[in-house]
Amino acid sequence: MRTEIDDVVWESLRGAATDAMRNAYAPYSKYPVGAAALLDDGRIISGCNVENASYGLTLCAECTLVGALHMGGGGRIRAFYCVDGAGAVLMPCGRCRQLLYEFRSPEMVLMTSLGIKTMDQILPDAFGPENLENQQ
Ligand code: THU
Repeated sequence: MRTEIDDVVWESLRGAATDAMRNAYAPYSKYPVGAAALLDDGRIISGCNVENASYGLTLCAECTLVGALHMGGGGRIRAFYCVDGAGAVLMPCGRCRQLLYEFRSPEMVLMTSLGIKTMDQILPDAFGPENLENQQ
Protein backbone atom coordinates (compact mmCIF):
# COMPACT_ATOMS: atom_id res chain seq x y z
CA MET A 1 0.00 0.00 0.00
CA ARG A 2 1.35 3.46 -0.94
CA THR A 3 1.37 5.60 2.20
CA GLU A 4 4.04 8.20 1.47
CA ILE A 5 2.95 11.72 0.62
CA ASP A 6 5.76 13.91 -0.66
CA ASP A 7 6.78 16.96 1.41
CA VAL A 8 6.07 19.08 -1.67
CA VAL A 9 2.47 17.83 -1.64
CA TRP A 10 2.08 18.60 2.06
CA GLU A 11 3.40 22.08 1.37
CA SER A 12 0.88 22.54 -1.47
CA LEU A 13 -1.91 21.40 0.83
CA ARG A 14 -0.76 23.75 3.57
CA GLY A 15 -0.77 26.62 1.04
CA ALA A 16 -4.21 25.72 -0.32
CA ALA A 17 -5.65 25.43 3.21
CA THR A 18 -4.13 28.79 4.19
CA ASP A 19 -5.56 30.47 1.06
CA ALA A 20 -8.98 28.95 1.81
CA MET A 21 -8.77 30.13 5.45
CA ARG A 22 -8.54 33.72 4.15
CA ASN A 23 -12.04 33.27 2.65
CA ALA A 24 -13.54 32.13 5.96
CA TYR A 25 -16.72 33.79 7.20
CA ALA A 26 -16.20 33.72 10.96
CA PRO A 27 -17.60 36.97 12.38
CA TYR A 28 -18.89 35.23 15.53
CA SER A 29 -16.04 33.02 16.68
CA LYS A 30 -13.37 35.11 14.94
CA TYR A 31 -11.68 31.76 14.37
CA PRO A 32 -11.12 31.31 10.64
CA VAL A 33 -10.32 27.80 9.43
CA GLY A 34 -9.16 26.50 6.06
CA ALA A 35 -8.96 22.92 4.83
CA ALA A 36 -7.44 21.32 1.75
CA ALA A 37 -7.37 17.80 0.39
CA LEU A 38 -5.47 15.92 -2.27
CA LEU A 39 -7.85 13.63 -4.16
CA ASP A 40 -6.94 10.25 -5.57
CA ASP A 41 -6.95 11.71 -9.10
CA GLY A 42 -4.39 14.38 -8.12
CA ARG A 43 -6.75 17.34 -7.77
CA ILE A 44 -6.51 19.62 -4.74
CA ILE A 45 -9.77 20.95 -3.30
CA SER A 46 -10.34 23.28 -0.35
CA GLY A 47 -12.93 24.73 2.00
CA CYS A 48 -13.37 27.34 4.72
CA ASN A 49 -15.71 27.69 7.68
CA VAL A 50 -18.92 29.62 7.09
CA GLU A 51 -20.65 30.70 10.28
CA ASN A 52 -24.26 31.71 10.88
CA ALA A 53 -26.08 34.06 13.26
CA SER A 54 -27.76 30.98 14.74
CA TYR A 55 -24.27 29.76 15.78
CA GLY A 56 -25.35 26.09 15.73
CA LEU A 57 -25.71 26.08 11.95
CA THR A 58 -22.04 26.88 11.41
CA LEU A 59 -20.38 25.01 8.58
CA CYS A 60 -16.87 23.87 9.39
CA ALA A 61 -14.19 24.15 6.71
CA GLU A 62 -14.46 20.39 6.20
CA CYS A 63 -18.19 20.75 5.41
CA THR A 64 -17.58 23.14 2.55
CA LEU A 65 -14.64 20.99 1.41
CA VAL A 66 -16.73 17.83 1.09
CA GLY A 67 -19.43 19.87 -0.67
CA ALA A 68 -16.80 21.06 -3.15
CA LEU A 69 -15.57 17.48 -3.53
CA HIS A 70 -18.97 16.16 -4.46
CA MET A 71 -19.95 19.15 -6.61
CA GLY A 72 -16.68 18.78 -8.49
CA GLY A 73 -17.52 15.26 -9.65
CA GLY A 74 -16.61 13.28 -6.52
CA GLY A 75 -13.45 11.45 -5.65
CA ARG A 76 -11.62 10.04 -2.66
CA ILE A 77 -9.42 11.94 -0.22
CA ARG A 78 -5.79 10.82 -0.22
CA ALA A 79 -4.31 13.50 2.07
CA PHE A 80 -5.84 16.24 4.22
CA TYR A 81 -4.57 19.42 5.88
CA CYS A 82 -6.49 21.91 8.05
CA VAL A 83 -5.22 25.24 9.41
CA ASP A 84 -6.37 27.83 11.93
CA GLY A 85 -6.22 31.61 11.53
CA ALA A 86 -2.51 31.67 12.30
CA GLY A 87 -1.84 29.05 9.64
CA ALA A 88 -1.07 26.39 12.26
CA VAL A 89 -2.17 22.83 11.59
CA LEU A 90 -5.53 21.99 13.18
CA MET A 91 -7.14 18.67 14.09
CA PRO A 92 -10.58 18.21 12.52
CA CYS A 93 -13.44 18.29 15.04
CA GLY A 94 -15.32 15.09 15.82
CA ARG A 95 -18.18 15.64 13.40
CA CYS A 96 -15.76 16.49 10.61
CA ARG A 97 -13.77 13.32 11.16
CA GLN A 98 -16.98 11.50 10.25
CA LEU A 99 -17.47 13.70 7.16
CA LEU A 100 -13.92 12.96 6.01
CA TYR A 101 -14.34 9.24 6.75
CA GLU A 102 -17.17 9.01 4.21
CA PHE A 103 -14.92 10.16 1.36
CA ARG A 104 -11.60 8.65 2.43
CA SER A 105 -9.41 6.57 0.19
CA PRO A 106 -8.07 3.40 1.87
CA GLU A 107 -4.65 4.99 2.34
CA MET A 108 -5.86 8.43 3.45
CA VAL A 109 -3.51 10.36 5.75
CA LEU A 110 -3.91 13.65 7.61
CA MET A 111 -1.40 16.19 8.81
CA THR A 112 -1.93 16.84 12.52
CA SER A 113 -0.15 18.67 15.33
CA LEU A 114 1.22 15.23 16.30
CA GLY A 115 2.44 14.39 12.80
CA ILE A 116 0.95 12.38 9.97
CA LYS A 117 -1.92 10.11 11.04
CA THR A 118 -4.27 7.70 9.32
CA MET A 119 -8.04 8.02 9.35
CA ASP A 120 -8.23 4.95 11.57
CA GLN A 121 -5.98 6.63 14.14
CA ILE A 122 -8.17 9.71 14.44
CA LEU A 123 -11.55 7.92 14.15
CA PRO A 124 -11.07 4.37 15.43
CA ASP A 125 -13.87 1.83 15.14
CA ALA A 126 -15.75 4.22 12.87
CA PHE A 127 -19.33 3.83 11.77
CA GLY A 128 -19.45 4.12 7.99
CA PRO A 129 -21.28 3.28 4.79
CA GLU A 130 -20.17 -0.34 5.08
CA ASN A 131 -22.35 -0.74 8.20
CA LEU A 132 -25.44 -0.02 6.12
CA GLU A 133 -24.65 -2.69 3.55
CA ASN A 134 -25.36 -5.75 5.71
CA GLN A 135 -28.86 -4.97 6.92
CA GLN A 136 -31.48 -7.72 6.75
N1 THU B 1 -14.07 24.73 12.83
C1 THU B 1 -13.81 24.20 11.60
O1 THU B 1 -14.06 24.83 10.56
N2 THU B 1 -13.29 22.94 11.55
C2 THU B 1 -12.94 22.20 12.63
O2 THU B 1 -12.57 21.03 12.49
C3 THU B 1 -12.97 22.80 13.97
C4 THU B 1 -13.82 24.03 14.08
C5 THU B 1 -14.66 26.08 12.90
C6 THU B 1 -16.10 26.10 13.30
C7 THU B 1 -16.25 27.51 13.84
O3 THU B 1 -16.56 28.38 12.77
C8 THU B 1 -14.88 27.85 14.39
O4 THU B 1 -13.99 26.87 13.85
C9 THU B 1 -14.79 27.83 15.90
O5 THU B 1 -15.24 26.62 16.40
